[in-house]
Amino acid sequence: MASSPQSSGRSHVSETNREVALAHAGEFEALALGPLRIWPPVVLAPMAGVTNYPFRALCREFGAGLYVSEMITARGYLNNNRRTVLLASSREDERPRSVQIYSSDPRDAGEMVARLVEDGVDHVDLNLGCPVRKVTAHGGGAAIPVKPKLLAHLVGAMVRNAGRVPVTIKVRKGIDAELLTYRDAGRVAEEEGASAIGLHARTAAQLYSGEADWEAIADLKSRCSIPVLGNGDIWESLDALRMMRATGCDGVIVGRGCLGRPWLFRELAQVFDGREPQLPPNLGEVRAVMLDHARRLVEFFGEPTALQQMRKWTAWYTKGFRNSAALRERLHQVTRLGELEALLAGVDASEPFPASALRAHRGKSGRTQKVSLPQGYLDDRDDATPPCEAFDAAEAESLEGG
Ligand SMILES: Cc1cc2nc3c(=O)[nH]c(=O)nc-3n(C[C@H](O)[C@H](O)[C@H](O)COP(=O)(O)O)c2cc1C
Repeated sequence: MASSPQSSGRSHVSETNREVALAHAGEFEALALGPLRIWPPVVLAPMAGVTNYPFRALCREFGAGLYVSEMITARGYLNNNRRTVLLASSREDERPRSVQIYSSDPRDAGEMVARLVEDGVDHVDLNLGCPVRKVTAHGGGAAIPVKPKLLAHLVGAMVRNAGRVPVTIKVRKGIDAELLTYRDAGRVAEEEGASAIGLHARTAAQLYSGEADWEAIADLKSRCSIPVLGNGDIWESLDALRMMRATGCDGVIVGRGCLGRPWLFRELAQVFDGREPQLPPNLGEVRAVMLDHARRLVEFFGEPTALQQMRKWTAWYTKGFRNSAALRERLHQVTRLGELEALLAGVDASEPFPASALRAHRGKSGRTQKVSLPQGYLDDRDDATPPCEAFDAAEAESLEGG
């Protein structure tokens, strides 16, 4: 039987999850992706500008699971664009190593997979959910599953070149409520030999607004024989158990919930192992993680880029703490690691983690959009011609697409 929740001792868990039972032995299985077995069945979502090697390594130290790179454009990678190659890179200690590809051209995607496999990558994912106007307006990202044959060519080319390395795809529900594509995507993924499909249960029109539609995840699961990964609105570890139980999905993908909260992966490992999630860190402990993160970024990107990137991170790490707005303003001026250390030395280390920050949305606003597609795009959905690439490698990092 599931352990009975100690709701009275769960003051550090939001109201939504107070009564959620911990996983009981044998309730969930490791996520099977080709030869890989991932336990707990937890995947760090690919996030542009976020899931670079330093952040993946930090998350991995807290927990366990699969930690996916940000989207890497096949064009940039194949052209040996310096920055793209750096973003795709990893270190010896990262196993399994997982890379997400962005491409709308089967030849490029296949070639990139071959190169990655040669380079020792253990898993590749294909981004089919990017909702950015510039991308969909050229028929890329979330627009690709509108054309199942093109999608089939892309996935097929990747699988053929991957050998034993599992290939997965990550999609949204569709373009908008009228044009849903995830069922077709599930069918194609299965037919073309993908090892799993991840569903961000929002349409491209919804961007990141509203609540993710977990029923769509359950629907996809009921139709697919390959593993289904559920994605959307896992803010706390117990949300993952709720999603798995509500949808029957085989694993969860965690995005914004871990922004400035890499310890979420420790809590996820605990609840999947049937243990209560640990208390979140106080401000002193958060400071230590923040500085650890900053040092890792400096080591990987060099000080100027790292400190530039730390601006968004410090905002996420300090969200909800007392006087954090004033602190953030000063943190934004910082250009050297030493200054960051000096500034943070003054915080009240004993301040507990704010309950208000547990489910506070981070990373994206709540706006919606009308999705742009190429002129006449819906006239021939059987067309498999690859669209022309919409952006160059340098732009890709700023697209934040998925
Ligand atoms: C800053 C940011 C960057 C993202 N970049 C990517 C990306 O490169 N590839 C991708 O497939 N999804 C990307 N996404 C979408 C996430 O992977 C995920 O699908 C989405 O955030 C929903 O999950 P969540 O509710 O847990 O955040 C991005 C999301 C954010 C917030």
